[in-house]
Amino acid sequence: MSKLMIVLASVRDVRMGAPIADWVRRAAEADGRFEIDFVDLAELALPMMDEPNHPRLKQYTKPHTIAWSERVEAADAFLFVFPEYNHSYSPAIKNAVDYLNSEWVRKPVGFVNWGGNSGGTRAQVAMKPVVDILGMVQTRGHVEINFPQLDDGVFEPNEQQAMVLGAQLDEFISLGEALKPLRG
Ligand SMILES: Cc1cc2nc3c(=O)[nH]c(=O)nc-3n(C[C@H](O)[C@H](O)[C@H](O)COP(=O)(O)O)c2cc1C
Repeated sequence: MSKLMIVLASVRDVRMGAPIADWVRRAAEADGRFEIDFVDLAELALPMMDEPNHPRLKQYTKPHTIAWSERVEAADAFLFVFPEYNHSYSPAIKNAVDYLNSEWVRKPVGFVNWGGNSGGTRAQVAMKPVVDILGMVQTRGHVEINFPQLDDGVFEPNEQQAMVLGAQLDEFISLGEALKPLRG
């Protein structure tokens, strides 16, 4: 079974990210093709990147980095669930990504973003070069949600958002198989 890590990367006490990530998790579980590792970066509570060496060297010195490295290494694909802050990604996702290097390489990644009118597009565009330099391979489409609304605390996607998430899940399987032989 493919191991999919879902990373919830808004960490405020009150956050739209939690119900959105709940939807993503429910959909991925219902799909049935994945073993899910759900990471809430608020719970993981990584400090700001504090390793003395470049992550490429994998000479980690802190227990939190070693634990994060092992968890990411074990994953076959990633869904990064993060909001747009000031026309860019949330600092939590960048920090979590920056800790590691080879653990991300040649693995598929998809994004689920939200914000105002743009639906988180600028957060998404800002993240693209970050995952590129790490040798990750993006799904063709990413989920965009403008002005997300909750119904009794629950986020329900529209047809387009559900369809894009489904396409991402399909790509995690196909890209995952194609990339596996290329992983170091
Ligand atoms: C610091 C900050 C900056 C924001 N900047 C933007 C922005 O540039 N574009 C946008 O569409 N929404 C922006 N927003 C609105 C957020 O997209 C919205 O508050 C969303 O709910 C944030 O996700 P969260 O609740 O999970 O933290 C910003 C919100 C915050 C807190």
